This record gives sequence, C-alpha cells and structure tokens, in this order.
Amino acid sequence: MTPPQPRRQLTPQEEARLAQIRAGFEQRKRIGTKLEQIRYKVGVYSGKGGVGKTTVAVNLAVLLAQEGARVALFDVDIDCPNVTRVIGVSEPPEHDRERDAFIPPSRFGVKVMSMAFFQKDEEEAVIMRGPMIHNAINTFLMKTDWGELDYMIVDLPPGTSDAPLTVMQTLNMDGFVVVTTPQELAKLDAKRSINMIRKLNLDVLGIVENFTGDIFGSGAGEELADELAIPFLGHFAMRKEYRIQDRPTVLVSDKVAGEYHRVAEGLRKHLAALEAAAVPR
Ligand SMILES: Nc1ncnc2c1ncn2[C@@H]1O[C@H](COP(=O)(O)OP(=O)(O)OP(=O)(O)O)[C@@H](O)[C@H]1O
Ligand SMILES: [Mg+2]
Repeated sequence: MTPPQPRRQLTPQEEARLAQIRAGFEQRKRIGTKLEQIRYKVGVYSGKGGVGKTTVAVNLAVLLAQEGARVALFDVDIDCPNVTRVIGVSEPPEHDRERDAFIPPSRFGVKVMSMAFFQKDEEEAVIMRGPMIHNAINTFLMKTDWGELDYMIVDLPPGTSDAPLTVMQTLNMDGFVVVTTPQELAKLDAKRSINMIRKLNLDVLGIVENFTGDIFGSGAGEELADELAIPFLGHFAMRKEYRIQDRPTVLVSDKVAGEYHRVAEGLRKHLAALEAAAVPR
C-alpha cells in the first residue's frame, strides 16, 4: 500500500481563486440572511422612461407604511437615483464601523436606501456596466441593516437593457408592478416590459395606469391587463398636487391616498395568493 502523499502547496493563483470563492460564498450567505427578513420584494417597473415609476414607488411605500406595514424603499436606478429627492431625505445612512453595516435613514415611516447617498453631488453621472451594477447592488444588500420588513419596494431604472436586467436577476424579486400611461404607444412599451419580466421567469403582480385623465385619456392599462391576463390594480389620475414637493402626494391629497389604497389592497391580495401557491423551499 502506498503511504499517503503530503498535500501539495497551492500556487498563489490557486490561493487567490480559493479566497475569491470563499468571499463569494460568504457574500451570498450574508445577502441570503438579510433577504430572509423581508417578506415581499416588489419592483416598480416600466420599459418607458418618465411614466411615473419613482412617483408610484415612493407613494406606494409611504401609503403601506401609513397603513401599518414595515416598509423600505430601495432605489436601484443606479444611473439616475431620484428617490431621495422625491421622498425628501437628505441625511445619509449611518455607518456602523464595527459591523461594517449601513443603517438606512427613515422618512414618513419608510427606510430609504439609494445610490444617491454615495454620490458626491446630485448632478454627478454614474456610469456603470452590468457587473459593476451587480456588485453595487450586492454590496447594498449585504451591508444594509433593513431589520424585519413586510415590504421592500424597489424603484427600477427604465428600459429593457443591461441595467434593469441585472437588477432583476440580482434581487430575486417576488414580482413587479408595471406602470403604463393611457396612450396606445405606452401600451406597446409596457408589453415589452412584461415580456422581459416573464422571460426571466419572474411574476408580474399587476398593471397600474398613471396620468389618467382628460389630457391623455384612460384605458390602456386595463386593455393590456385583459390582453395579457394580468391583474389590473388601478389608475392614478394626473393631478396638479404632484407639484407639491415637500411631501409625497398620498400625504397631500385624500383622493390620491384613496387611489393608492385601492392599488395596495390588490397588491396584498395577489402577493398572498402567490405565497399560498408557492412551493415551500
Ligand atoms: N399622476 C401624476 N400627475 C401629475 N404628475 C405626475 C403624476 N405621476 C408622476 N408625475 C410627475 O411626472 C414626472 C415623472 O415622474 P417620475 O420621475 O416618477 O417618472 P419615472 O418613470 O420614475 O422616470 P424615469 O424613467 O426617469 O425614472 C415627475 O415630475 C412627477 O412628479
Ligand atoms: Mg424614476
């Protein structure tokens, strides 16, 4: 019988590779533990820019918090982070050096985390490619102390390119609320967005129509929902109250709060149904 051979020394390249694998494993474990504390992760998305994703994400988060839920808002529009401005938060997260953890600031009962906190000035352009976005989001996820949450509302960047795709794949969302406007062309864009979500095997929780009213009309959201057999969650009318900057509009107008309440009800229902139908992991 041959005696056991002494173990071969690893080359520096092998050592480095091993260290990288260990770090990746450690990172996934830390992220996994953090995400377990969040019951629902809901993205607000549309392929088209300027349809009101950030507005919907902020107002939905604030309304859910007003109704008693524990809520965080995560701005993953890495290129143009707007959430902090819309919700009116300026103080950066606290950094706990000992644990290397970030404690997000709260506003109107919502914990807020955004790339904007790490930009030197508001007008600075953040240019990142897929792997960098992936790393930035993972770092946020790993180091942010969200605590126990009922909802994490995620504000996504527009488009069907690298940035939103990376976000969707990295975040492991429960589903998406797709925002459309009442016009025919917006419907086509929303359809593309929905196809992209479905291609990634993720769920569309529902469609909302923003800017409903005399100017742009109404109906595209409901038609699209019918066509694609997706729940229609509700309309948000176009209103001048959105120009008031110091508070989210759900806190300014009872009518707007009512619209968001209806959408939140539908969302809760669909999330509960998804949860009930989920195969236990
Ligand atoms: N229902 C509404 N009535 C009136 N104004 C609105 C309404 N919804 C959104 N707005 C306004 O429209 C503008 C664009 O909204 P918002 O920034 O939320 O769009 P977005 O889809 O997040 O844009 P982007 O694609 O650039 O991220 C904002 O000035 C916002 O206040
Ligand atoms: Mg936005």
